[in-house]
Amino acid sequence: MHQLDFNGAAPLSAGAPSALDQFKLKVDQWLSHPALYKFAISNPLTRWFAQRRTQQVFDVMAGFVHSQVLLSCTRLRIFEMLREQPLTVAELSTRVQIEPAALQRLIYAAVSIKLLEFRQHNKLGLGALGVPIAAHEGIRAMIEHNHLLYRDLTDPVAFLNHAWAGSMAEYWPYAHEAGQDVTRKAADDKVTRYSALMAASQNFVIQEILSSYNFGDHQQILDVGTGLGRFISELAKQETHLQLHLFDLPPVLNLAQDTLRQNNLLGRAQLHPGSFIDNDLPAVADLITLVRVAHDHPDAIVRQLLQKAYDALPAGGVLLIAEPMASEADEAPLGDAYFHYYLLAMGAGRLRKPSELGAMLAEAGFSHIELVPNAMPIHARLLIGRKTKCLP
Ligand SMILES: C[S@@+](CC[C@H](N)C(=O)[O-])C[C@H]1O[C@@H](n2cnc3c(N)ncnc32)[C@H](O)[C@@H]1O
Repeated sequence: MHQLDFNGAAPLSAGAPSALDQFKLKVDQWLSHPALYKFAISNPLTRWFAQRRTQQVFDVMAGFVHSQVLLSCTRLRIFEMLREQPLTVAELSTRVQIEPAALQRLIYAAVSIKLLEFRQHNKLGLGALGVPIAAHEGIRAMIEHNHLLYRDLTDPVAFLNHAWAGSMAEYWPYAHEAGQDVTRKAADDKVTRYSALMAASQNFVIQEILSSYNFGDHQQILDVGTGLGRFISELAKQETHLQLHLFDLPPVLNLAQDTLRQNNLLGRAQLHPGSFIDNDLPAVADLITLVRVAHDHPDAIVRQLLQKAYDALPAGGVLLIAEPMASEADEAPLGDAYFHYYLLAMGAGRLRKPSELGAMLAEAGFSHIELVPNAMPIHARLLIGRKTKCLP
């Protein structure tokens, strides 16, 4: 069994329940009484509510089928085919080499969850949810990749104690126990695979960052955990005055160098191979970015990393963290369930709330900690902290 940071709303020892909690317990018991269900569905005033709840529970239960319908359509390239032209089940059947009777089940299922829709003359087209999947290769790459997590969850209770015994952990070589020789662990083929996936899924994140944060005031940027260097390359095209610094494990930086070369950016960039666990960060930039990096690591490593970032920045410098974050108690959850499980299967990291990351930033010395509003927080949220210009 591996040791995880214990963080969260539930303290290990609790006091006596408050009057409000006792009242809520009574309501739970009353609402879950079988007699109330009978009453709720027989009464026209409450029936709609009972129906809605039943549908919601059913959808949660059936979610595993929905995800496999999605994966089947993706693997069979049905979205790409229907993006070109509407097709009948029989035409699709010839193309994907699956018996029409069986394929029809997949098609009906996909229509019912809005991935596909029927058009005239029994032809099929893209449904409302199929359109973005057909449009973005990155979404299709993530759907395929999620199969690893699905496999790891075959025994969901055993998974909780042995989350790193599965395919996801094997896929991510660096995200396990702190202090390991991550450079050695990151065998080149794995690095290439995970970096390619990162790049495929990164477009949305890049778009969120570039359209939400004003980079105009910065001169030198250090992108820590840069991966293939896609974000910093796109940023460099938009902000032509910026000097670029890339920090990552040596085998990953070799791949990032290719991205810089393809974008004619080698002349503006300096590579800093290293591990932020073992090495300090170079003091070269007035902006440090951590894009989808902190959530891969346990609190102790993140604290060290934020401290190293603080130490490497000049007075007035900024640290920008961009990654999916957990919802605060008063916010509607976005991708919380998915990301909590993904990060558990992957390694020692966790999904943190902006307030948790903010507290860690403050501990490292940062001030003026702000969430930068962005259009699609499900892809990533943006949190900044500044190294104050005043002496403490
Ligand atoms: C999830 S990927 C994110 C890559 C890129 N920023 C993106 O959003 O696509 C995390 C990156 O952190 C790098 N990384 C992990 N541990 C590291 C360490 N100890 N030192 C330096 N980089 C590390 C990985 O090699 C990988 O490129």
